Amino acid sequence: MPRNVLDIIDLSVGEIDRLIATAEDIEANPEKYQDVCRNRQLATLFFEPSTRTRLSFESAMLALGGSVLGFSEASSSSTTKGETVGDTIHTVSCYADIIAMRHPKEGAAYAASQFSEVPIINAGDGGHNHPTQTLTDLLTIYREKRRLSGFTIGLCGDLKFGRTVHSLVNALSRYEDIRYVLISPEELKLPRYIKEQALKAQGIPYTQVSSLEDAISELDILYMTRVQKERFFNEEEYLRLKDSYILTPERLAKAKSDLSILHPLPRVNEISVEVDRDPRAAYWKQVKNGKLIRMALIMYLLNIQA
Ligand code: CP
Repeated sequence: MPRNVLDIIDLSVGEIDRLIATAEDIEANPEKYQDVCRNRQLATLFFEPSTRTRLSFESAMLALGGSVLGFSEASSSSTTKGETVGDTIHTVSCYADIIAMRHPKEGAAYAASQFSEVPIINAGDGGHNHPTQTLTDLLTIYREKRRLSGFTIGLCGDLKFGRTVHSLVNALSRYEDIRYVLISPEELKLPRYIKEQALKAQGIPYTQVSSLEDAISELDILYMTRVQKERFFNEEEYLRLKDSYILTPERLAKAKSDLSILHPLPRVNEISVEVDRDPRAAYWKQVKNGKLIRMALIMYLLNIQA
């Protein structure tokens, strides 16, 4: 059976720590890795739009000396003729050594894994999970703080539909001494099943609040998110909630001097561009880290050592 990453909990804490160490080594010694995936192929099957995830996967495989194939929208695949995800995956696993797939339906990556002969990486399934964004986030937090334990993290915005938040909570809850401040409007609270399974069952402390301004001074990390327009059934509700939080230099006045500000991107307006110049802004570093950690993950799943 191939090794898949469908959910961040498919990787142990030890494996995540080793991927982070490899990503740091890749950055320090890129020449060591430039040919390790020669004659290996990555397929990127994106049934839903993406900039960072798809391009960082492709850039990662090219930097490892491998090659890439795939599609960036469902409309250019035989899905439009009625082909199932299972048959698409069965087909592509005859051409590629590893597959990264994004799909608008929750559970699609799991379904795909049932038909694949090669490793499947979930590159985002609906409002459910996004494990490689979480690896990116963990690498970024580690590089900012030199630890993955002992901090208070504020998750702010759309905690209901934000798949990156769901995966991040599941990941960080396995590290020591993490405290969460869940900052959202009532309508966009973190789903109950995640609070029950990842937080309450393990006795992890958290508070739920609606004011970013009141919470900001206690945070070591602030993880901002976009309100996920594409997951709303009702446009009126999206329009009412979309500007719930906008981080500006003025709103950062009460924040700690060593706060780290993360965002999985894309952003709409929830972080003003003036904040980009603040030394606490780490979201552009996150983008770079996404390529490094995906290089480490591709190598790991293909059982390749440098
Ligand atoms: N963070 C993220 O998943 O970005 P894309 O949607 O651009 O891939």
